[in-house]
Formats: sequence, C-alpha cells, structure tokens
Amino acid sequence: MKARSVGWRQRRKVTVYCFLIASVFMTGIGLLLLSLTAIDIPIGHLKDHLHHKDLQGEAQQQNKVKNCATVEEMGGNFHSGFMKESLRVREMIQHHFTNNGAERVRELSPEEFCRHGFVLGKASEAGLGNEMYKILTGAALSIMLNRSLIIGQTRGKYPFGDYLTYSNVSFTLSEVKHLWRTNGCLTKYGRHLHIRVDDFQKPAKTNVLCGNWKEWEQPIIWFQNATDAVPAQFFLKNIHPEMAKAAADLFGRSEDLSYRPNVFGELMRLLVTPSEEVEKAVNWALGGGSDPDIVLHMRMLMNRSVRAVQAALNCIEKAVQNLPLISRPKVVIVSDTPHVVEDVALRLNEFAEVVHFDFKHFGGNMSGMISKPSNSNIRVKDWGPAPRWVAFVDFFLASRAKHAVISGAHRRVGTTYAQLISALAAAHRLGDYTASGSNFTFLSSFQSNLLSEGLKNQVGWGHAWNRFAGSLSCPNQSNQCALTPLLPPGWWDGMWQSPLPRDIHRMEAYGVKLSGFGTFDHEQLRSFCSTKREFVKKIPLI
Ligand SMILES: *[C@@H]1O[C@H](CO)[C@@H](O)[C@H](O)[C@H]1NC(C)=O
Ligand SMILES: *[C@@H]1O[C@H](CO)[C@@H](O)[C@H](O)[C@H]1NC(C)=O
Ligand SMILES: *[C@@H]1O[C@H](CO)[C@@H](O)[C@H](O)[C@H]1NC(C)=O
Ligand SMILES: *[C@@H]1O[C@H](CO)[C@@H](O)[C@H](O)[C@H]1NC(C)=O
Ligand SMILES: *[C@@H]1O[C@H](CO)[C@@H](O)[C@H](O)[C@H]1NC(C)=O
Ligand SMILES: *[C@@H]1O[C@H](CO)[C@@H](O)[C@H](O)[C@H]1NC(C)=O
Ligand SMILES: *[C@@H]1O[C@H](CO)[C@@H](O)[C@H](O)[C@H]1NC(C)=O
Repeated sequence: MKARSVGWRQRRKVTVYCFLIASVFMTGIGLLLLSLTAIDIPIGHLKDHLHHKDLQGEAQQQNKVKNCATVEEMGGNFHSGFMKESLRVREMIQHHFTNNGAERVRELSPEEFCRHGFVLGKASEAGLGNEMYKILTGAALSIMLNRSLIIGQTRGKYPFGDYLTYSNVSFTLSEVKHLWRTNGCLTKYGRHLHIRVDDFQKPAKTNVLCGNWKEWEQPIIWFQNATDAVPAQFFLKNIHPEMAKAAADLFGRSEDLSYRPNVFGELMRLLVTPSEEVEKAVNWALGGGSDPDIVLHMRMLMNRSVRAVQAALNCIEKAVQNLPLISRPKVVIVSDTPHVVEDVALRLNEFAEVVHFDFKHFGGNMSGMISKPSNSNIRVKDWGPAPRWVAFVDFFLASRAKHAVISGAHRRVGTTYAQLISALAAAHRLGDYTASGSNFTFLSSFQSNLLSEGLKNQVGWGHAWNRFAGSLSCPNQSNQCALTPLLPPGWWDGMWQSPLPRDIHRMEAYGVKLSGFGTFDHEQLRSFCSTKREFVKKIPLI
C-alpha cells in the first residue's frame, strides 16, 4: 500500500516535469508569465500547483492556457457524478446504524456495552443550516470512528424538537448515562463516563488534523462547532492514515470533484423528518398535489435586487429545459424577503405553476410552533419577517423538489440552508431517476455584480463556493447558472479551486501552509503536528 502510493507520487512528479517543459516550449514563456502576472501568484507556487493538479492540467494544456474559470466552468465537474457514490454511502450509513444503532447497542452485554464508544452531536437553536450541520457532523464522525451517535438534548428537548422528529437510531445522553449505571460500567468495570471535547473553531486546540481519534479512549467524543460541511472533511487530511482513510471512505477523495457522495443529504434523510404539524403545512402548501419540479431559494436579506431576480429567472429557464416534457412545471419559491417572492411569481406565472407557503393563510394548529414575535431588526434582516417555524415548513417543502434546487441571493449564493435543502431533496430522489426521467441538479444563480471580482465576495468558510473563491476565479463574469456540488468541498484540491488570502491565513493556525493554488506540503503538517502539544479537554459525567 505504502510502496504503491510512493510510486504513484513519483509518476505524478515526472508527469508534472514533462508538463512544465512542454508548457514552456509549446505555449511560450511569455504566455506563462502573463498568466502568472494576471493571477498574481509567485512562480514557485505554480510548480506546487501543477504538481498537485497535473492530471486535469494535461487535459487543459491540449486547448489553451487558461488562468481562470467562470463559475459555470468550475461547476462543470459536478455533473451528476454523485449518484453512484451516494448509493454507496447510503449503504454504508445503513450498515453503520445496523451495527451501531440504539436498537442493537441497547442489547449489548454489560461488558460489551461498557467498552462501546459514542459521538455526541449537539446543537443549539441558532440558524437551522449551521445547527443541523453540527448534528450531521456528529453522525459522520460516528461512522468514521465506528461509534454510536448521541443527539444532545437541552432540558429534555431535542434541538428544534417542535418542528423536527429524530429517528430512533441515535441515543440521548440521559439514556446513555442510565445504561452506564444499570450496566455497572463504573462499579463493575471501573470505566468512567467522560466526554472528550474538541473545539474545531480553536485551531490551537483542536486535534482534527493531528490526532488519531480512533485511539481515543473516552467513551464519548464531542466535536464542537462544526457548523458546515467543512470540519468533518478536515479529517481527509489528518496525518494518521487510518483517520484519513476513514474520512475518504465516507467523503471520497478530495481531489475527485466529479465523485462527491451526498453524505449530509443521506444522513439527514435517515436522521430527521418534519414534525407532524410541519408536514401538514407542507402538504397544505402543495394543495395535496404533486411534489414541485423545481425549487428556488432566494436569500435576499430584505433587498429587492432586480438583477438577482433576473438571474434566477434565467436559471429557472435553464432548469426547465432539462426537465422531461412537462406542460406547466411546478415551481416552489422560498425566500426571506416577501417582495422578492411576489416579483418572481409575477414573472413565472406565465409558464409555471408557482407555489409559495403563505403562513398567514395557513389555518393549521400551530400552537406548538408560535415563536415569540421578535422585533429585533437584525433577525428580520437576516431571516425575514416570518415567524421562525416558517423556515422549517419552507425547508421541508423545498426538499420535495423532484428535479432541481436553485440557490439565488442578494450577496451569498449557496448558504448552509440552501445546501441542506438540495442535499435532502437529492437524497429523497436517489434511485428514482429513471422513473422521473431526469437527473437531480443543484444550481447556483449568479448575477454579474456578485462576480465582479470573481467569487471573492462570496466569502464564508462553509459557503458552497468558498473553495473556488481565490485567484483562479475569473473577475468580471456575467450572469450565470452553475452546477453546484451537493457536498461542498472542504479542501482546495480540484483544478479550479484556490483559497482566499483570508483562508490561507486561517489555515496557518491549523498547521497548513496553503499555496495560492490550495496545495500544501504534508510533511510540513506532520512536523507541525509533531511539535504541537496534544490538547485534551474532558467533561466527567459518571
Ligand atoms: C466496528 O465495531 C464493531 C463492534 O461494535 C466491530 O464488530 C466491527 O468490527 C468494527 N468495525 C470496524 C471497521 O472497525
Ligand atoms: C425504529 O424505527 C423503525 C422505522 O421507523 C422501526 O421499524 C423500528 O421498529 C423502530 N425501533 C424501535 C426500537 O422503536
Ligand atoms: C464552541 O461551542 C461551544 C459549545 O457549543 C461554545 O461554548 C464555544 O464558545 C464555541 N467555541 C467557539 C470558538 O465559538
Ligand atoms: C440592494 O442591493 C443593491 C446592490 O447591492 C444596493 O445598491 C441597494 O442599495 C440595496 N437596497 C437596499 C434597500 O438595501
Ligand atoms: C392544538 O394542539 C395543541 C397541542 O399541540 C392541543 O393542545 C390543542 O388542543 C390543539 N387545538 C386544536 C384546535 O386542535
Ligand atoms: C443522468 O446522469 C447519468 C450519469 O451522468 C447519465 O448517464 C444519464 O443520461 C442522465 N440522465 C438524463 C435524463 O440526463
Ligand atoms: C469589468 O468590465 C467592465 C466593462 O465590461 C469594465 O468597465 C471594468 O473595468 C471591468 N472590471 C474589471 C475588474 O476588470
């Protein structure tokens, strides 16, 4: 195994070398230098870049030397490649919860139970997308570590428990404590129930890249502040081969952008369903009729940008063209900004059946859902004026999309909320493509002003496009409708991926010295790890 990987590496190096010579002679030094100046990256880094990205680079070389890509070109990689991988991961998840699900683990003998390990997924009730990712990351980690999943409760209530129902594969902390006592784990086997806490957002303290979590002895592990798709994928670069392999088994290799399993969508499909009331509201919005063909999510922050609406309409048109023949496609619109819903609906009505959940007209029993009216301006700006529970109805309504989810925005396209909608919708449809006659797609709608400086302004670490936001993203792009990964990448290994200076800076704190192209020296990370003192934080429970 080891020998093979070394050989492969050398072969790649040779390819790179040939490619370098070839580029210099074939395309001319001038052109090469020109491209370097244009993207403003020191020459030394170009070698790193090519070293890492040579395979795709060679294909590129046949055409013309390009030094940047548009979002549609970047998204070209994501064409439907997720299906086979997602089916593989679905099976893996099922297998995991058969072995480690609560039903089986409850029945273990005391001796086995007391040796068993758990991962805690715990969320508060801030933004739905971010909080849901914390739970899903716990679930992903439980798979990598072959441990059972605990979903944390607060005062006896699951996160968003009024709107969500959790499947029975996970434990609660109080049940684990109870079983720990009844099995006599401390009294008979001398095992304390401890939680080992690792905070992803504290780079100096987290062991995400340097630790061998498989060897951790604490019965419970809590990986904190994993608010998006990135933290779980950090394990792909963990210096311990068994950790990196466990991560790659789940997420796929980070450089293979065309094979990205829909990990979070598959996990969510298994773990969470809407509460009965939310489900009723969703069915009410659909008028008891069929599921929507296309869903548009517009995160507008109360701005009524005409450009954003125009770009989104173009994207809907593109999605409609990919549909099997449907006379009047059903389009669901979800937005934090009511005016935008009106604007889009007005334009779509001509050729589509437009559905929007209007909570004011919903007569269902929402007594369990009435949230305190919030007069905070910040909340309204960030989440819109509708009561909190509407976000859940919208979420599950949108996740019924049969063919496409489109993310549009005033400032940021592909937020965690939109990511999880499309991931869940794709998971619902997996295996159903032949029946529906088309593939599921997640699209991002960009108006040109969002791309005046490339993706640079689409900042946000967990944002779907963040890994593409660096210098390889062309400035001054026009309106586009780009294929988007269902699993947002966690690294910068793909051809057109490049980090922002801010991310390079942030990664330094984790011990990773990224080049402008997103490559780095693993040896250097190893040596960083060898001098880093392992940080251990434990919470004793029993
Ligand atoms: C996972 O743990 C179970 C016991 O809970 C064990 O039987 C199985 O071999 C483990 N699988 C791996 C891949 O380590
Ligand atoms: C867990 O849920 C599944 C499916 O919803 C059901 O078949 C099973 O009986 C449940 N198990 C327990 C122990 O409740
Ligand atoms: C991480 O999460 C914990 C618990 O949710 C919180 O107390 C802590 O402040 C968070 N850390 C950061 C850096 O946000
Ligand atoms: C909406 O966004 C545009 C473009 O960013 C800006 O010029 C305009 O002032 C914003 N309008 C409001 C009401 O915030
Ligand atoms: C509404 O639901 C609450 C509990 O969820 C219940 O107590 C109440 O009776 C219900 N009201 C109606 C009119 O159904
Ligand atoms: C869906 O994607 C698969 C795999 O890329 C492809 O073979 C198939 O033709 C696609 N189906 C449609 C209807 O586009
Ligand atoms: C973008 O294009 C416009 C006109 O097409 C031009 O005026 C502007 O200078 C360009 N901006 C950049 C950053 O290239």
